[in-house]
Parts: sequence; structure tokens; C-alpha cells
Amino acid sequence: MSAKIRLGILGGGGDSLIGVLHRIASSMYDSYELVGGVFNPNFDENIGFAKEIGIPTNRIYKDFDTMMEEELKLPEDERIQVVSVLTPNFLHFPMAKKLIESGFNVICEKPMTTTYEEAKILQETLEKANTIFAVTYTYTGYPMVRQMKEMIASGVIGKIQKIDVQYYQGWINPIIHDKEKRAATWRLDPEKSGISCCVGDIGTHGFDMIEYVTGMEVESVLAELNYLYSDNKMDIDGTMLLRFPNDIKGLLRTSQIATGEENNFTVKIYGNKGGLKWEQENPNYLYHLTEDEPLKVLKPGHAYNSELSLSGTKLPPGHPEGIFDSMGNIYKGVAKAIRKEPYHPGEFPTMKDGVRGMNFIEKAVDSHKKGNVWVKI
Ligand SMILES: NC(=O)c1ccc[n+]([C@@H]2O[C@H](COP(=O)([O-])OP(=O)(O)OC[C@H]3O[C@@H](n4cnc5c(N)ncnc54)[C@H](O)[C@@H]3O)[C@@H](O)[C@H]2O)c1
Repeated sequence: MSAKIRLGILGGGGDSLIGVLHRIASSMYDSYELVGGVFNPNFDENIGFAKEIGIPTNRIYKDFDTMMEEELKLPEDERIQVVSVLTPNFLHFPMAKKLIESGFNVICEKPMTTTYEEAKILQETLEKANTIFAVTYTYTGYPMVRQMKEMIASGVIGKIQKIDVQYYQGWINPIIHDKEKRAATWRLDPEKSGISCCVGDIGTHGFDMIEYVTGMEVESVLAELNYLYSDNKMDIDGTMLLRFPNDIKGLLRTSQIATGEENNFTVKIYGNKGGLKWEQENPNYLYHLTEDEPLKVLKPGHAYNSELSLSGTKLPPGHPEGIFDSMGNIYKGVAKAIRKEPYHPGEFPTMKDGVRGMNFIEKAVDSHKKGNVWVKI
């Protein structure tokens, strides 16, 4: 029996964006072994891809139902232990639900489902099961994001008084102005994507990041979304005002039509004693601002960082780590949970975070549709 956790993957084929990130992340700490799955709905491409990445084809299945049937026939010590769900959004819920019900641990891409209702059903399903469930809000795995969380928790910036998070991309610009391209993109199809494109895809990252680093829950949202064309059913840009307990206020700006932007995810949290600033495109720097001292720039791997941050750094300081490492750290946390080893709750996002993310998407769309009103989350 392998000492490694037997991993299956759904989606993430050679034609996908996110597959390579999960495969590399899962191999980073030598905790997982990819043993099978369904990378692609086309069986020939599926087998071809398995050969290309060098994994045996005997557990590459023609579809999800076949995988479930065949895996459940295997003795438990051979069966896949955890399945990563990397398919387009609409398949997350049916796949994850069946996996949980059948006793598999699940690592699910975000947005966790296509509706808040589905998310609540999934949560109820998990409550009856004894399995681990993680949602890959990838950016929470960065050492300097974890450091930010710990510094805020220990009061370094004092009482939070302003939250400003921005996630700007420009990738939809060349698609959105062309009717045919609009129709061919699954992210703009509500059947496949859910009720939102931009808020669902990257607004949820921003929302989760805010709750992760501040430890506070967003209480209500007022959203102004942008669709650009009347035949486009999905938001591709949105500005959201946020309210937190104790009258704390924040702002979440998201866009997929910020032309020329790549993955400009910037997190700024200000307290009465200072501020913390982090930028995804430059993830190894955490800026600590104060009134009476020069700007401090914190970097990963130094002993001044918290244990949670240090546990996500593998190399001596000065060797840049990036998004692969961030996702690798999430996989590392999940491996500890599966092996019933102790872990910090900040090591991976859970079902609760997935459900809150879906609640947020729904309430942001609701706020916009009702004429930009405050909606409770
Ligand atoms: N965490 C992040 O930062 C992040 C980044 C990008 C995408 N995502 C999420 O990952 C998911 C996939 O996104 P993507 O950009 O890789 O999409 P994609 O369209 O590039 O790839 C989807 C993959 O799923 C496969 N697939 C489709 N139907 C399938 C089926 N029935 N069975 C098995 N495989 C099937 C496709 O062949 C393809 O390989 C989405 O939910 C997306 O929101 C997350």
C-alpha cells in the first residue's frame, strides 16, 4: 500500500487552465499520488492525456459515474481517497455531493456550486459524512497572506477601520465585444457558470480573502454590477460596498474588463495603528505601513514571520515562491486533515467558506437587481 494519499482528478485535462496548478501543487510535498480520474469528457483525449503526463491508464474512466462504480468495487486500501473537482462550475455540486455520500474526501474548485441553495445542500451532506472537504481559494495559501492574517489577529494594525480589496483582470475584453465569442465562453453561460461570472469567479476570491485575513464576517453588501451588453446575462465587472459588525466598512472591486490587467489582486487592510498591503502579482512582499516609522517590507521564510506563514515556505528566503506554492500549501493542509494529523484552521478553506462564498455571490447579484440596495448576507 502506498504511503501517499491516492488522488483522483475530475476535469483539469490538457485543455484546461487550472489542471496543471493542482497536479503540481499535489506533488509539492510528496503527500499525494495521482492514480486516476476523468480529465476530459472525451475518452480518447482522456487516455491520451494520462499517457502524456505519465500515469497508468487503468483507472482513467470514461465518465464520472463509471469512476464511482469502479472505484467503489475496489478494497478501501486501494480506492481513491481524495478527489479534486476541477470541472466547469455546474458539475461541482453533483460530483461533490455524490463523492461525499460515497465516503470520498473532496478538494473542490471555487465557486463551490452554482447556487447558494446547492451549497447549503452540500453542507448538510457533509455534516452526515465523516470526510474532509476543502475549497480552493488558492490565494489563502501564500505565506505572506497567512502572515497578514496572523498580524491582524495579534493586533499589529490595531482596530480595523478600512478594508479595500481589488481583483482586476482584463481577459474578457477581447471576448465581450464579439457576439460569437460571447456565446462560446462557458463562463458567460448561466447554465454552466451559475448566476454570476465576475463576482462568482474572482469576487469570491476577494470576499474569502477579506474574511480570511480579517477574521470578520461580511454582514451586508451593496453591489453595482456591469454587463456591458443587453444580451450578456452575466456580470463581468462589479463594485461592492461591504458592511461588517461594529460599523466597519469596506470595498470590493472586481473586473474582467479592466483592459490589460492580468491578475491584479490587491488586499489593503487599515487599522488605527497601521495598515497592511499585499499584491498577488508580487506575492513575496507584505507592506506594513505606520504613521511614525518608515515603511516595513516583510518577506517569506524569515523567523519574524508567524508559524502559519513559515510552514508554507520551503526554501531559504530570497527564492521567490508563487501560486504553485500557494496551492501546494492548501494541499499540504488537506493531507494533514486526511491523515488525522494536527493542523492550523488557516491551512485550507473549508465547506463553511464555500457556503459563505455562494451566499455572497447570490446577495451581490440580488443587491444589483433590486436597484443597488443593501442586502444582508
Ligand atoms: N482557484 C483558482 O484560482 C481558479 C483559477 C481558475 C479556475 N478555477 C476554477 O476551476 C474550474 C475549472 O476552470 P478552468 O479554467 O480550468 O476551466 P477550463 O474550461 O479551462 O477546463 C475545464 C476542464 O474540465 C474538463 N471537463 C469538462 N466537462 C467534464 C466532465 N463532464 N468530466 C470531466 N472533465 C470535464 C474539460 O475537458 C477541461 O479539461 C472552475 O470552476 C473555475 O472557477 C479556479
